[in-house]
Amino acid sequence: MSSEQSMRVVSGIQPTGDLHLGNLLGAILRWVRMQDEAECLFFLADLHALTIDVDPQQLRSSVREMAAALIASGIDANKSILFAHSAVPAHAELAWLLGCTARMGWLNRMTQWKDKAGKNREGSSLGLFAYPVLQAADILLYRATHVPVGDDQKQHIELARDIAIKFNTDFDVELFVPPEPFIGGGSAARVMSLRDGTAKMSKSDPSDMSRINLSDSDDLVAQKIRKAKTDPEPLPDDPKLLDRRPEARNLVGIYAAVTGDSVEEVLARFAGQGFGTFKPALADALVALLTPLRTRLDEFRKDPAMLDNLLEDGAAKAAALAAPTLANAYDSVGLSRARNA
Ligand code: TRP
Repeated sequence: MSSEQSMRVVSGIQPTGDLHLGNLLGAILRWVRMQDEAECLFFLADLHALTIDVDPQQLRSSVREMAAALIASGIDANKSILFAHSAVPAHAELAWLLGCTARMGWLNRMTQWKDKAGKNREGSSLGLFAYPVLQAADILLYRATHVPVGDDQKQHIELARDIAIKFNTDFDVELFVPPEPFIGGGSAARVMSLRDGTAKMSKSDPSDMSRINLSDSDDLVAQKIRKAKTDPEPLPDDPKLLDRRPEARNLVGIYAAVTGDSVEEVLARFAGQGFGTFKPALADALVALLTPLRTRLDEFRKDPAMLDNLLEDGAAKAAALAAPTLANAYDSVGLSRARNA
């Protein structure tokens, strides 16, 4: 990229209820910081949420809940475009065109498809299989240059690149921009369970003590940190020495992500000290981050109409950006239909 101005970031997040610290530190806070680095579009990937089990009532509330959490965390509708992708039909339309470019073999190789379908491929929805094509449409529709995602999504970004290149080549156009994974916005913390430093923090873990929910009270947050699994050794001064101490590494990583410091800086401050000192400091840092966020979240929950309006505004802006690319894509394949773009 020659200049920051030509950088356009697009990213989506699936709407889930019950947000936890892993969602916040892994994706959301990074998005918040990116708003000052590039033009950003962020959306709730609610169409993607249909690929597994659907509970309509739950989905409706999860979309609002996630939107509220994003705004409460600092996604600013004046800086970024925030919307639900089901509200912009161009995503689904482009996904069809791109589905005719993507090859079965490419999709068959997607590890997320293999993991999620498991042994039940025949019984999986076509949507689950085609999921990465919709994701490619989400990105290519806005001619995004950079897509911030976690490691588990890198393969989907590669696929979006392949689809962009094949479409451009097949139809001899320079329409789609092959996107790059984005590494800005500071480091994304991979937040692990508080009970097992080798498992990801997850809302499906049966033990609530394994995670910090955005809705947990200050006392509960402090209690969960106090009871978090650790080892008896003091903290080292070298991050490498954490490699074989997954629980210690996780807590240090969380502290770094919450305060915005690097792991080196955190260790420089706490080297030689035990968890008796470190844990209360971590609990304080977490409470300082989460208390105001929870207050804002409660305000948004009380005013769903305000949230809906905000998302509608975002959808209108996104639709206007998407229209010329979609029209161009139809035109490229030989279908021109009257459109008001
Ligand atoms: N698949 C992504 C995830 O599960 C969410 C997503 C959907 C996305 N569309 C996207 C991310 C487009 C980046 C760009 O995390």
